[in-house]
Amino acid sequence: MTTRVDYAVAPGGTLQGTLRVPGDKSISHRALMLGAIAEGDTEIEGFLNGADCLSTLAAIRAMGVEVDAPASTRLTVHGRGLHGLRPAGAPLDCGNSGTAMRIFMGLLAGQGFDSTLIGDESLSRRPMQRVIDPLTGMGAKIKSRGGYAPIVVQGVNPLEPARHVLKVASAQVKSAVLLAGLYAGGYTWIKEPGPSRDHTERMLHSFGTHLLRESGWLGIHGGEPLRATRIEVPADLSSAAFFLAGAAMTPGSDLTLTNVGVNPTRDGVVRILRLMGADIEIRHSRLGGGEPAADIHVKGGRLRGTDVTPELVTLAIDDIPAVLIAAASAEGTTRVRGAAELRVKESDRLRAMQTGLEALGVPVTATDEGIHVTGIPHLRGGDIQSFGDHRIAMAFAMAGLRTEGPLTIRDCANVDTSFPGFVPLACKAGLQIAT
Ligand code: S3P
Repeated sequence: MTTRVDYAVAPGGTLQGTLRVPGDKSISHRALMLGAIAEGDTEIEGFLNGADCLSTLAAIRAMGVEVDAPASTRLTVHGRGLHGLRPAGAPLDCGNSGTAMRIFMGLLAGQGFDSTLIGDESLSRRPMQRVIDPLTGMGAKIKSRGGYAPIVVQGVNPLEPARHVLKVASAQVKSAVLLAGLYAGGYTWIKEPGPSRDHTERMLHSFGTHLLRESGWLGIHGGEPLRATRIEVPADLSSAAFFLAGAAMTPGSDLTLTNVGVNPTRDGVVRILRLMGADIEIRHSRLGGGEPAADIHVKGGRLRGTDVTPELVTLAIDDIPAVLIAAASAEGTTRVRGAAELRVKESDRLRAMQTGLEALGVPVTATDEGIHVTGIPHLRGGDIQSFGDHRIAMAFAMAGLRTEGPLTIRDCANVDTSFPGFVPLACKAGLQIAT
């Protein structure tokens, strides 16, 4: 059992200095999974050693993949080739990680053995049918508890190539289908309703896999071996997002976040904060291992409310809690639309944000698929429930910069799933958090 952690946040302060937040979660998961089925040794630099990626690491090790870890952020994965994984002999525990469970479903569907995937209470409430359906269309045999974990994947090899029109713009679903496509005899084609993050496509390219793009369709051919490579993981923009929002909304702040991933399929948080009037500068843009990275400089000021369209929500899918904290002290109303997906993340994030912001005295209205937040000049202190959701906990920690009284944030242990070392780093930047 995890120990319970609450944050006590003192009011006020500004964010200052130069920080590097931990490695990108999405890219770290994918580096492990693709490294595991590649030919040769894949070196990973900047790996996120948060609990979510450690679940993926334990799972590939359980399937016979040797991984050397000379440092917690530097790993070498000794790939076993497309057909070299072995049955784990016990359920693979994905912990709190939707990305691990969903992408593993695709990877495991085409193996020559059966696997069981389990997760914690939150993950066991998250919808898996969106992955089961397209994989079943490829001949995969997957059993679930009515669309929820535990999931039993009976390996079928080869899978059948198919054409999929996905119902939700989800990188997790797309990635599961792409990895299943590696085990299909022929081309698997995918069309998404809108763009989701493209880390899997970029990384498959780095591993030498050729993807096709034709009139909005993405195609992958099964059976081609992956060639091991070296992967430099940039810092996670969705971890940087809390600091960007916190600094942007606090006059007097002046902060630089270094080597952050700025992939255009997920830089919505920068775009939204700029629409709110934030002073954000992207410096030293570069391409490392197929992923764009940059330093991000932000200065605090007075923000104004804005409209966040469904397209922007997809590009900032994990960063809406941080945006809503900035909205809480901005001038006017911020209206977020097309955000129903937020109700099925690690918590119901629309409900969690509404509950917490109302406790701070902020006027909020939420609908099934959206939320309106009207900023106020002085937030109250108070007692906030994070619902065990890492991103809700970190977003509200930033609210402390603008509250008049102290904040208590409950149930923050899961911050370690994506951001080990959040509290010391936030304190270094200028927040006062005691645990
Ligand atoms: C992720 C995709 C997103 C995001 C999640 C990580 C990924 O989910 O919310 O934290 O690594 O593919 P969806 O693809 O379901 O939108």
